[in-house]
Amino acid sequence: MAVTSPAPADIELEAARLADTGLAGLGYRDEELERAAKLTWKINRLKKEKNAVIPAHVYQRPEILLGVADMIGDSYKLAKLGAASPATTIVFCGVRFMAETAKILSPEKEVLLPAPEAGCSLSESITAADVRALKKKHPGAPVAVYINTSVAVKAECDVVVTSANAPKIMRKLYEKHEKVIFAPDAMMGANLAQELGKTVGKDLIVWNGTCIVHDNFDASSVEFYRKMYPGVKILAHFECTPALTSVVDYIGGTGDMMKWVDDHKASSYMLITECGLGDLARTKFPDKVFVPMCRLCLHMKAVTLERVLSALERPSASQRIDVPAAVAARALKPIERMFELSEDRSAA
Ligand code: 13P
Ligand code: SF4
Repeated sequence: MAVTSPAPADIELEAARLADTGLAGLGYRDEELERAAKLTWKINRLKKEKNAVIPAHVYQRPEILLGVADMIGDSYKLAKLGAASPATTIVFCGVRFMAETAKILSPEKEVLLPAPEAGCSLSESITAADVRALKKKHPGAPVAVYINTSVAVKAECDVVVTSANAPKIMRKLYEKHEKVIFAPDAMMGANLAQELGKTVGKDLIVWNGTCIVHDNFDASSVEFYRKMYPGVKILAHFECTPALTSVVDYIGGTGDMMKWVDDHKASSYMLITECGLGDLARTKFPDKVFVPMCRLCLHMKAVTLERVLSALERPSASQRIDVPAAVAARALKPIERMFELSEDRSAA
């Protein structure tokens, strides 16, 4: 049955549901809830009609996370869950490299990216030719690339990593190799070197990419906030600068940051990352206090409810993710290697 338009009573009910998900607590007023309700009502019905699933990264807008997402998580969790889903269509609320990874893992599914221009500064910082040049310069060194990369770059590497498993996988690579190449995030590379006791440029070769959201937080303000909020626990994403990560209480990916908050009892927390994580944490842990310190990712925030609806109703050619089979087959191997190594299913 085709999805029609909601009646006023349907919108009222849907707006009340959205308010209860935590959106009201985040400051959504009645008119914003009503605007969102008109869209989420249709999206949730179309999803069922089209056997579609919506994975959403934690940096997505709250109305997407709480209104229409079927699975919420970090890059690793979404890559796993999206592939395991029985749905025939994936509407990926995230950025291009995430949707492409979903397509590589599920070539038989239709994968749609509501905001086709949603890229990532890290992904755009390196090409397949750059990886080939690194390999030529450091023969024999295995190449680990961050999942925030293009399909062509993944196709050139030995193993893909995410913020949830990079230290573990890198440690395994060092069991058999003296030198490892890590690309493209220079900040994450420096943080990994610190954690693994390696030296950048000697036994850990890094590329010079950075995340435009995380590379610019001011480390000196940490001391100021510690005085202002005694007992505050400060967490920073792996993509932040070593100057910052060296003065915080915890460094990790978004999934591990949320787990850390769940596992601790502190007077307050500061999540230094994209603002979406703090919004989600406020709804997940309503009794905890979160001190704001975040920045928006223009790529992540390019996804809107309107664009999710348009992708479901009538996907444009640019919203459809298509990865040529030959390069997808080459990129699949290092992604599967990541699953094996992070789940201890094989040695490096
Ligand atoms: P996570 O996998 O930690 O969610 O990171 C993805 C990302 O793009 C961080 O900027
Ligand atoms: Fe890329 Fe940074 Fe945005 Fe994550 S937050 S998608 S790393 S630009």
